[in-house]
Amino acid sequence: MRVEFVAASSGSSADGVVALVFEGRRLSAGAQALDQASGGALTRAMETVDFTGAKGKTLEIVAPANLSAKRVLLMGAGAQAGFDAKASETAGAEGYNALKLGGLKTLAFAWDGLAPALAASAALGVRLAAYRFDRYRTKEKPEKKPTVETVQIVGDDPKAAQDADAPLTALSEGVTFTRDLVSEPANILFPEEFARRVKELEKLGAKVEILGEAEMAKLGMGSLLGVGQGSVRESQLAVIQWLGAADPKAQPIAFVGKGVCFDTGGISLKPADGMEDMIWDMGGAGAVAGLMHTLAARKAKANVIGILGLVENMPDGNAQRPGDIVTSMSGQTIEVINTDAEGRLVLADALWYCQDRFKPKFMVDLATLTGAIVVALGSNYGGMYSNDESLAANLMKASDTSGDPLWRMPLPPAYEKQIDSMAADVKNTGGRPGGSITAALFLQRFTNGVPWAHLDIAATAWKKPSSIPTIPDGATGFGVRLLNDLVAANYED
Ligand code: BES
Ligand code: MN
Ligand code: ZN
Repeated sequence: MRVEFVAASSGSSADGVVALVFEGRRLSAGAQALDQASGGALTRAMETVDFTGAKGKTLEIVAPANLSAKRVLLMGAGAQAGFDAKASETAGAEGYNALKLGGLKTLAFAWDGLAPALAASAALGVRLAAYRFDRYRTKEKPEKKPTVETVQIVGDDPKAAQDADAPLTALSEGVTFTRDLVSEPANILFPEEFARRVKELEKLGAKVEILGEAEMAKLGMGSLLGVGQGSVRESQLAVIQWLGAADPKAQPIAFVGKGVCFDTGGISLKPADGMEDMIWDMGGAGAVAGLMHTLAARKAKANVIGILGLVENMPDGNAQRPGDIVTSMSGQTIEVINTDAEGRLVLADALWYCQDRFKPKFMVDLATLTGAIVVALGSNYGGMYSNDESLAANLMKASDTSGDPLWRMPLPPAYEKQIDSMAADVKNTGGRPGGSITAALFLQRFTNGVPWAHLDIAATAWKKPSSIPTIPDGATGFGVRLLNDLVAANYED
């Protein structure tokens, strides 16, 4: 699908058109032009069914007289003063979703008279909504397959819209990269394949190093390596550097992702029901990869490190056992009570490595870490934990602006005793009470006091059918937009 910005005067011959009507039946400039050309067909239709332009309401007019378009979708846009970037993005997504099936090849969004930035937002909405993972569908029913090939955003200043769109294209490409990675099944996307795909970020100017098991063993990463020990797939650590600040040696910021390409639970095997969901247990690493893609593609003026711990958690004759004690890179020993609490074991070494090598201003880790956060917050919020008030505040601001919502959770010292071990320095589970919290407390022990935040995205990395128009069912790309906003608002030259 191609998205282009065109001027109204270029006379679109699109076979589907989306136009805005503001509250009080106030036609946008684009809707007005269509109404005139059709001899008032739009107005008659609106009056007939008492369509007033209320937000969220739509009216479709089929084969209007004197127009080349086969379908015109009028979108209620609410009060004109409130039609901001978010509203325009949603309108773009809803317009695309409403007209994507049924044979239309070219869609035009009649955004005449609106600011160029709003045209760019509509394009973003279209791109995010149009994502689908259809690589492995060879027999799809034609009526279920979108037919739209070209989307035109019509506006007064296509050049300015194009400029406003550049960083948003970078964003939608990053989200797409994440969604593809998260959607891929584990027979295709295992640690080395994940690493290969991330290596491609070098084409955008990022530096990418891949560490294998021998290198990690040399670094003493017994905690991460223990998780991958039962898999025939080799564990990998991907280290991505985007050095876009004026001074490439200036202290970086860092993001760390849990990349469990498949989580069977290991010897503490998960039940069969729903185990297939664990192909997206690399959602944290997927989000960090998508973020790095976005930052590199839009040439963000910041030094940013992305670290991905990539493993597969399998039961096997050589797999790690409950009761095993491993030594992490930090030197702390860990008693592995439950091999299904593997994400924190991966992150323990990835976080330690990150602060040890890069001395970052802060680290944010993302992980599909616990079922407990799904119970606590449901699927509309990622759980956020932090040891640093200013980082936490910046994350909450980004959560508001980005539409990737977070809810802050506590790090109570009183719960530390749940993860104290008799045999080692710490154990990898704290029992059922506060399961997401004790997981966060575990991670905190591997941050060496560096400002840090942990995002438990177990519930938000993947969407069950619901109604956010920019997020098709499946991999959401949660975190890419959040962290792109975090970087853009606070950490660029
Ligand atoms: N990957 C899972 C967490 C998860 C659960 C993600 C459901 C998405 C949906 C994680 O590795 C896990 O198994 N956590 C255990 C920890 C427990 C054994 C302490 C859990 O949450 O049950
Ligand atoms: Mn697990
Ligand atoms: Zn897991």
